[in-house]
Amino acid sequence: MTSPSADLSGVPDRRVVFSPSGRRGVVQEGTTVLEAARRMGVDLDSVCGGRGICGRCQIEQGSAPGIPQLETALSPPGPTETDYRGRRSLKDGRRLGCAVSIQGDVVIDVPAESQVHRQVVRKRPEVANFPIDPVVRLHYVVVDPPSLVDARSDVERVAWALEVDWGLTGLEFDTQVIQEIHSALTAGDWTCTLAVHDESQVIGVWPGFYDRLLGLAFDVGSTTIAGHLLNLSTGDVMASSGTMNPQIRFGEDLMSRVSHVMMDPEGAHKMTGVVREAMNELAIELVGELGRDTTEILDVTMVGNPIMHHLMLGLDPTPLGGAPFAPVISDSLDLVASRFGLELHPGARLYVLPLVAGHVGADTMGAALSEGPHRRDDLQLLVDVGTNAEIVLGNRSRILAASSPTGPAFEGAQISSGQRASPGAIERVRIDRETLEPRIRVIGSDVWSDEETFERDVSDTGVTGICGSGIIEAVAELFLSGVIAGDGTIVAGTERVVADGRTFSYRLWDDPEILVTQSDVRAIQLAKAALYAGIRLLMDHAGVDAVDEIRLAGAFGSHIDPAYAMVLGLIPDCDLDRVWSAGNAAGSGAIIALLSKSARAEIEDVALRVEKIETATEPRFQEHFVAAMGIPHTEHAFPSLAARIELPAAVEGSGGRGRRRRRTND
Ligand code: FES
Repeated sequence: MTSPSADLSGVPDRRVVFSPSGRRGVVQEGTTVLEAARRMGVDLDSVCGGRGICGRCQIEQGSAPGIPQLETALSPPGPTETDYRGRRSLKDGRRLGCAVSIQGDVVIDVPAESQVHRQVVRKRPEVANFPIDPVVRLHYVVVDPPSLVDARSDVERVAWALEVDWGLTGLEFDTQVIQEIHSALTAGDWTCTLAVHDESQVIGVWPGFYDRLLGLAFDVGSTTIAGHLLNLSTGDVMASSGTMNPQIRFGEDLMSRVSHVMMDPEGAHKMTGVVREAMNELAIELVGELGRDTTEILDVTMVGNPIMHHLMLGLDPTPLGGAPFAPVISDSLDLVASRFGLELHPGARLYVLPLVAGHVGADTMGAALSEGPHRRDDLQLLVDVGTNAEIVLGNRSRILAASSPTGPAFEGAQISSGQRASPGAIERVRIDRETLEPRIRVIGSDVWSDEETFERDVSDTGVTGICGSGIIEAVAELFLSGVIAGDGTIVAGTERVVADGRTFSYRLWDDPEILVTQSDVRAIQLAKAALYAGIRLLMDHAGVDAVDEIRLAGAFGSHIDPAYAMVLGLIPDCDLDRVWSAGNAAGSGAIIALLSKSARAEIEDVALRVEKIETATEPRFQEHFVAAMGIPHTEHAFPSLAARIELPAAVEGSGGRGRRRRRTND
């Protein structure tokens, strides 16, 4: 950098360094910090266009080698800052970048909350952060009132201000904005704030300065609907909540809802109505928690499986009920939310993530956006386990997806004592390797059944049944204890194994009696074989025999212990340290899409690149399915798992037919 000099105007140049970007340059003395930032391409936020109203442009003075922190380098507080401090708080050391001018060589620290594209730092270390880059933005403008010499329309003068102050050209105005713009301008003394969607459409107008910008991310599942309310300016998740999907009364699972539509021509219409109503109620609940209003919500994103997607949008879901499962539309959608029954701000937009195919939905694309297989060099397997398992396998160069018909066993259905994951359900199981006696933990309690306080802890709910993660652990533990053979037969002689017709059952709990029956084990084997076969089919297409990392998404994926999932052979062998629970990855994807325009473009590109694999029509799926019935597998070895967990004999090599090699406690 050159030393300060004066140009022909006689105004000296001053050196400026912005931190943390490290951008540096030279500006004329007297330039505001906001102006310097804009010229040097530094992210410094502003909603009011440098009028000292919004407070988004806050900066601090810093120092760097060769540029000491001199008080005289920035102009002293003037009336704009004094006025701002009178209305809103400004932390010690903070200045308004639009109101302070550069007087000497200076280092400017831009705090994270003042950066336009600041990163949202996510809690899980294994996932990527992303920049906040919302599609809807607020812009404050000041216009001249009409006069005899300037009789332009209100829309023309606002469009002109948006172009001059914000560089936005070619804007279109929503009808309701046109209807409200005159009263907004007059009420705001010829100032107003406009919400602009995607730099192209003006979707809202308020008198004067307005900065309440909320967004809502929905994950519409077949059982529950989750909603997350976000501040679109800061990226903060302000409230999250969930509600049961009221469509359940039309059918527990997806296919029964499609059947309902086939039988009742009004069925789809009713299901569309109830899901929209539930989403509206969720929105009211979320804003209510914060004392806000649904009219502050300007942008909404939605993910969901293809059938939920179609029903919410009022599209006919019946083609998704059978081969070839062609969806009505698979592209991402940018819609006006009010036209789809959402009662928010009248100009609010609804962005729906793309589908991959009629059986790989926007929820899977949400999970992919969150977990990012397409952003990495090594091979990631992403599995969302539900009634249908949705599977993505890929890396930067190639990405494949399929869905596999696992059925409802993993959700506790088709299991003799199965139930949903709710208080009282057995969710953890351990079997003593010597005595073959069980101990359990139930949802709602943190203690094991062999601990003193267990009875007291579960006195409210009792032990009511076994949920999906519980049955996985029960079958896996029984296998590891030798009670279940590698082919799934209940074999071992212990008092807890009781005759049950021509087969045996293991008595997991005495009062009430909760059994793991032979048909429970078979139901789990069928479900896990379908999942494994789907995964293996994708691995065949990718030409690989192993994956580098596995992420288990969805409610079930978050609750199952990866080690037990691998013992049972739901997922292929992999280093257990690289098997993660991804939590509600689909919902995280909806949040990311809400906050980031570039993320929307990213997932739209991924959806186009995904190679769809049809499990229903591939003959190899059936072969893989049969081979995957063994525990963990009839043919495939699990060396990484065997290095961590003592598997019954014969499993480490060929799998499937093993008996207990020796008894050990876990
Ligand atoms: S840009 Fe709004 S207060 Fe500075």
